[in-house]
Amino acid sequence: MLRFLTGGESHGPALVAIIDGLPAGLPIREEDINTELRRRQVGYGRGGRMQIERDEVTILGGVWQGCTSGAPLVLSIANRDWENWRDRPLPAVTVPRPGHADYAGMIKYGFDDARPVLERASARETAARVAVGAVAKILLGQFGIRVGSYVERIGPAVAEIAAEPLPALWARAEESDVRCPDPTAAQAMREAIDSARAAGDSLGGIFVVGAVDLPVGLGSHVQADRRLDARLAAAVMSIPAVKGVEIGPAFQNAALPGTQVHDEFLPGTYRRPRRASNRAGGLEGGMTNGMPLIVRAAMKPIPTTLTQRRSVDMRTGEPAMTRYERSDVCAVPAASVVGEAVVAWVLADVFLEKFGGDHMDDVRAHFQREAVVLDDTPWGSA
Ligand SMILES: Cc1cc2nc3c(=O)[nH]c(=O)nc-3n(C[C@H](O)[C@H](O)[C@H](O)COP(=O)(O)O)c2cc1C
Repeated sequence: MLRFLTGGESHGPALVAIIDGLPAGLPIREEDINTELRRRQVGYGRGGRMQIERDEVTILGGVWQGCTSGAPLVLSIANRDWENWRDRPLPAVTVPRPGHADYAGMIKYGFDDARPVLERASARETAARVAVGAVAKILLGQFGIRVGSYVERIGPAVAEIAAEPLPALWARAEESDVRCPDPTAAQAMREAIDSARAAGDSLGGIFVVGAVDLPVGLGSHVQADRRLDARLAAAVMSIPAVKGVEIGPAFQNAALPGTQVHDEFLPGTYRRPRRASNRAGGLEGGMTNGMPLIVRAAMKPIPTTLTQRRSVDMRTGEPAMTRYERSDVCAVPAASVVGEAVVAWVLADVFLEKFGGDHMDDVRAHFQREAVVLDDTPWGSA
């Protein structure tokens, strides 16, 4: 069983993650994890914190001679901002921000200061999850499985995405500071972020995570908690501020008759018929069907805004306006990288359920013997 936990606060000394259940023999290098951490930190619309942090992982355990040993993999990412606060208390937050965890967390844990709540609710925690996802990507990459993402919408600006293989979209997204493969829309996204910043406001948007070259049959239809669509939705929904998840063009499909939605089979090689389309987004019956996986996520606008919002001081019960604390204006490009991490994690988990073993040599043998991978999957971006 593959599992992980993260710990650490936004302004604490470090974030940590422990991954348990990895097979031995998986090559792990800090620089590969750091590449993913850097991808989370860039993006038009980020706040001042990302100028301070330059995330780098330290491996504290679980690696022997460059490869996993089978012991828990222990990762740590230092918070540089901690140095700025170690000798003075962080300011109390007694006025909860609409849309953040402040209010519910204060009531639940019995504080009149939201600081201990927001320190952990902060999406700074997603740095640890990106490190965990980087390890999952390394595992999947050993079997040719690639995970990527792009941004489809920021506020009012929407990309026009023609059907083309996902890796081509991902490559263009990688060149863009808003992670958008459509340059015209990318410019509109930057302008939307600039306008929101000037207005003291914030924006959300939509990102699309995909995976290609997946074997058929990861996940299962036989039990609710083994359905891969359910597991992916839970993982993507666990990203702070993500409030909607869709597999393939699910909400468009809901408006169409079945004959225009369900992907027909065309003759291919033995046990590997081709599909005429990919409106299922790569999943049928809670299992991968060999087509590209497509998970779309809606992120709400960032709750902290320079423009003050009406609230109540929890110490006095009196009306009060929210106070601004350094914040992103828009974090959809970063969330899209976090989305890749959580999707990669779930895929690594179901991959090991099907092909797992104690050592990577066992996993490779299972994969070579049993995996059915489609040769021809041209429909990337349904
Ligand atoms: C990558 C990323 C960066 C974020 N940055 C901020 C931020 O700077 N300020 C903020 O108020 N919320 C930010 N958020 C969103 C909050 O963490 C989130 O809204 C809050 O924890 C409440 O959780 P909920 O929106 O899921 O209900 C960010 C989210 C992500 C994924």
